[in-house]
Amino acid sequence: MSAPALTPSALHGIAARGPLSDGIIRRLTGEDADDLGARAESALATSDDVVRDDDIQLALFVLYASSYGSLSELDPALEWDPALIATRGLLEHAFERALRATVPTPELPEPTVDAVGRALFALAEADTGPSLSRYVAKKATDEQMHEFFMQRSIYTLREADPHSWAIPRLTGRPKAALVEIQSDEYGGGRPDRVHATIFARAMRGAGLDDTYAAYVDDVPAITLASLNMMSMFGLNRRLVGAIVGHLAAFEMTSSIPNRFYADGLRRLGFAEDVTDYFDEHVEADAVHEQIAARDLAGGLAEDRPDLLPDIMFGAAACLTVDGWAAGHMLDSWTRGESSLRERDAR
Ligand SMILES: [Fe+2]
Ligand SMILES: [Fe+2]
Repeated sequence: MSAPALTPSALHGIAARGPLSDGIIRRLTGEDADDLGARAESALATSDDVVRDDDIQLALFVLYASSYGSLSELDPALEWDPALIATRGLLEHAFERALRATVPTPELPEPTVDAVGRALFALAEADTGPSLSRYVAKKATDEQMHEFFMQRSIYTLREADPHSWAIPRLTGRPKAALVEIQSDEYGGGRPDRVHATIFARAMRGAGLDDTYAAYVDDVPAITLASLNMMSMFGLNRRLVGAIVGHLAAFEMTSSIPNRFYADGLRRLGFAEDVTDYFDEHVEADAVHEQIAARDLAGGLAEDRPDLLPDIMFGAAACLTVDGWAAGHMLDSWTRGESSLRERDAR
């Protein structure tokens, strides 16, 4: 879906990508925009692919930013604005339906720790998604690595936050497991070791802007969709199984790729301040994947067998959507093109 030439908004300079995101940004910045429902319905009716729709995914991105408080211009009083919440519900309904229709549904294991752990490892192993990390290790150019950081910054400068919404919604073993993982993600008591902070340092080391959302205008809808999916799973209690499955799959496909990313960065001569984030994850996520697959996902399935289908759906959705986002980068680069949005479309 091509974006019309649009101008920076009052929200962090982020340019709207159509009438819906324009209306949402206006309302979030205190302007009048009272036809949000109509704009959402029209955007949904004319979209041929909600997951890759620039206007819809940017609208969701800024709505979720309002819950995270990730952009300084966002007025906390508007977090629960009824019109914004109603619009978010419409968009989420369509987004979730599109994901459930396109993500391949894995076979359900028995709801036990062992069976769920095994099924998740098998799912991650069978993932035949594009190997962006191998490309980075061997072939990526300096310019492509900068694009990689810009694309990754949309989630990773807020790393772990979407999954934290699940903490109060869990009890017992899965809750303890999630908190154990998140404690590492948030530095285990050391602010300088917060993963998002280590990533910010890597961006600065690579000569990039580490301000949150500095590169939103540059990334395609599928990159926004990857974060929006996590935010939707995390913020909706009815989807708690999906956010748990998502984290399990995320952790299980992290350790080895991060080794390749670090190899690629060293090959290109980046210093330790840039490779640190990736080196950290080689070991951390080898531990996290065990906790996430067994105690978190398996433990939740044992306690709540009714959530098993969503645990497996969340895991498959993580692999599928992140595969699409990685595939976009890899396809662009192997064609000799940039993975960022065309400059004249902005
Ligand atoms: Fe991390
Ligand atoms: Fe992790």
